[in-house]
Amino acid sequence: MLGFTFSSLMLMLFGGVTSLRDVKLLVHPTTVVRGGTAALICSRDMQGAPLYSVKWYRGNHEFYRYTPMDDKPTQVFGLPGITVDMNNSNGSQVVLKKMDLSLAGNFSCEVTADSSFATQIATKFVDVIALPSLDPVLKADKERYQPGELLKANCTSSPAKPAANLTIKINDEPLRSSETSLHASETGLLWTSVHAEMKVTPQLFVSERLRVTCVASVHDLYKREAYLDFFTPDTDPRPERITLNGGASRCFLSWVFLFFVMFLPFAMGQDFIYEDYPEYYESDHPIRSTVERTLLGG
Ligand SMILES: *[C@@H]1O[C@H](CO)[C@@H](O)[C@H](O)[C@H]1NC(C)=O
Ligand SMILES: *[C@@H]1O[C@H](CO)[C@@H](O)[C@H](O)[C@H]1NC(C)=O
Ligand SMILES: *[C@@H]1O[C@H](CO)[C@@H](O)[C@H](O)[C@H]1NC(C)=O
Ligand SMILES: *[C@@H]1O[C@H](CO)[C@@H](O)[C@H](O)[C@H]1NC(C)=O
Ligand SMILES: *[C@@H]1O[C@H](CO)[C@@H](O)[C@H](O)[C@H]1NC(C)=O
Repeated sequence: MLGFTFSSLMLMLFGGVTSLRDVKLLVHPTTVVRGGTAALICSRDMQGAPLYSVKWYRGNHEFYRYTPMDDKPTQVFGLPGITVDMNNSNGSQVVLKKMDLSLAGNFSCEVTADSSFATQIATKFVDVIALPSLDPVLKADKERYQPGELLKANCTSSPAKPAANLTIKINDEPLRSSETSLHASETGLLWTSVHAEMKVTPQLFVSERLRVTCVASVHDLYKREAYLDFFTPDTDPRPERITLNGGASRCFLSWVFLFFVMFLPFAMGQDFIYEDYPEYYESDHPIRSTVERTLLGG
């Protein structure tokens, strides 16, 4: 009788301190992609003491309990968005499947030793993220640039959580002077757009090519690129573009027009110029500059 009281007293005084140590919650992975799986491993040093229970919580809500002495050792408490993989969950770990964005938050495991009822709890933040579903889209205001012109580019990433980081690179050099903005999508995610402007110089055409790249990234879990190549005008005749834009026929008409303007007056007499095409020889006349650009191959 005396012995029992004494050992109970010893347990009450020291049991809670000595029978349970180092409760830790390990989460693999700590950042879960939406729809993915996470293992919540609750490790502890029982110091030989029997286990009474282990409880897992999301915030203050218990969703899984392991009580080895019960007839039914495992219990699941329904919580919106939580799907416990019963086949892979026991007193040491709980596996969550099909994790939803709303589950991002603090998860805890609470261990209680038998007889002393010493209890320790460990908490970890688990993030659930959504990656962009599409590659970034990069657009420039023109299809080719002459040195001295301003290149304007805009890149957008598709919705994600957290928003993807966007970087514009010119020939692999990140462009610092770009403005990024965030936009909310209908699905509660965020999409990013970045706008960059840069003066085109001949030096930027490395091996006759200027490459503008847009890199979208989310932590180290997602990285996609989109790029546009621009070539120096001399090295890239791009005949297919002339045909596609109907440029060839326009170019031909310009030649015919120029022929008439330049040579017809000599055939018909000086008065022709001033009577029929007086505006043409005004220096900034649009038709004239079009003709000149065409002749220069622009
Ligand atoms: C659990 O395992 C059994 C047998 O291995 C299998 O039939 C069942 O589909 C599994 N349940 C889940 C939820 O994975
Ligand atoms: C729980 O399951 C894991 C993985 O299936 C296993 O490694 C571990 O030994 C199990 N623990 C207990 C207490 O059954
Ligand atoms: C998670 O817990 C930490 C500290 O324990 C607290 O600062 C933080 O606000 C909690 N986060 C959430 C989402 O409850
Ligand atoms: C970039 O393009 C997107 C989509 O077209 C647009 O909403 C955004 O305002 C543009 N950003 C800039 C700075 O032009
Ligand atoms: C975006 O970049 C910043 C600065 O490098 C970094 O702190 C942040 O974690 C990044 N965000 C994402 C979603 O990758």
